[in-house]
Amino acid sequence: MATFIVLLGPPGVGKGTQAKVLADMTKFAHVSSGDIFRENLKNQTELGKVAKSYMDKGELVPDDVTIRMIRDRISHPDCGSGVILDGFPRTPAQADALEKMLSEFNGHVDAVPYITATEDILIERIGGRWSCRAQGHIYHQKFSPPKQAGVCDVDGSELFQRDDDKVETVAKRIHVYLEQTIPLVDYYRGKGKLFEIDGTQAVEQVTEKLLAALKR
Ligand code: AP5
Ligand code: MG
Repeated sequence: MATFIVLLGPPGVGKGTQAKVLADMTKFAHVSSGDIFRENLKNQTELGKVAKSYMDKGELVPDDVTIRMIRDRISHPDCGSGVILDGFPRTPAQADALEKMLSEFNGHVDAVPYITATEDILIERIGGRWSCRAQGHIYHQKFSPPKQAGVCDVDGSELFQRDDDKVETVAKRIHVYLEQTIPLVDYYRGKGKLFEIDGTQAVEQVTEKLLAALKR
C-alpha cells in the first residue's frame, strides 16, 4: 500500500524545499498543488486561467477544482509507492475529500509533519526565493543561492520570482492560511497523525528533524 505524507505549514516555511529532499530519498512522488497550478498557468490551460485569478489575489482556488486536480494526479502510476503532498489539503473540505479518495485506493494519510516558523522568517524566505522554470527547484538569494545567479544548478533553466510573492499578496496568503488551513492542525492532531517540526533552523537541520520524526 502506498504511503501518504501530508506536509502542512504556512507559506514560505519550506514545504517545497523539504518535499524535494524527501522525494529524492524515498522515491515517493512529490505532489505540490501550487506547482501543478503554476504548470497549468505556464501552459495556458483552462485550469491555469481559473487558478491564476485566485493565486494573483493570494486566495485559495475553489475546493472542487483543486480536489479534482489532486485526485487525477495521485491516480498516476508514479504515485504507486508513496506520495508527499505539499500544499494539499488546505481546507477541511479538502482533507475530507482526501480521506475519501485514499480509501478508494485502500490507503490513508500516514503522517502529517507540521512545519512552523515566525512570520518574520516566512517573509524573509519568500522575499528571497527564486524558483526554476523547468522543474521548480527552489533557491534563496541568501540561504541557498544558485552557483550562477538566475540559473538553476540542476537543469540550467532560468530562475524566476513568483507573481504571488509580492509583499501585499504574501500578507494575504498568510491571512488565508491562518483562517482556512490552521483548522487542519487540530484535525490531524485529533487523528494522532500530526507532529510539529521547528522550521526556523537551516534546511539540513529541518530535514534531520523531519526524518527522525518520520522514522518514529
Ligand atoms: P503554494 O505554491 O503551495 O504556496 P504556499 O503554500 O504559499 O507555500 P510556498 O510555496 O510559498 O512556500 P513553501 O512552504 O513551499 O516554501 P519553499 O520551500 O518554497 O500555493 C500558491 C497558491 O496556489 C495559493 O496561494 C493558492 O492560490 C493556490 N493553491 C495551492 N494549493 C492549493 C490548495 N490546496 N487549495 C487551494 N488553492 C491552492 O521555501 C521558501 C524559501 O525559503 C525558498 O527560497 C527556500 O530556499 C527558503 N528556505 C526553505 N527552507 C529554509 C530554511 N530552513 N532556512 C532558510 N531558508 C529556507
Ligand atoms: Mg511551495
